[in-house]
Amino acid sequence: MPELTLEGMRVTARPGTTVLAALQNAGLSPLRFSLGGESRGALCGMGSCAECRAVVDGLTVRTCLTPVRDGQDVRRLLEVSRED
Ligand code: FES
Repeated sequence: MPELTLEGMRVTARPGTTVLAALQNAGLSPLRFSLGGESRGALCGMGSCAECRAVVDGLTVRTCLTPVRDGQDVRRLLEVSRED
């Protein structure tokens, strides 16, 4: 079972699931904030909307398309989005 770090918290995820699923299962919501300060989260779940963006191992990715891997470091865009 892959073990990842979500916002500094170690979690175990099911193999074959996405980073988005791991974030949601951990209750980490919202994923980010809009420029206007509104909370944002996954919308389409299939890679079209980009609302599920987060930083995985230093790169901004669409988490609904990103499979979990052992050792990943995942951080939401909460602080970065507010500074945009
Ligand atoms: S939820 Fe829409 S791109 Fe991931």
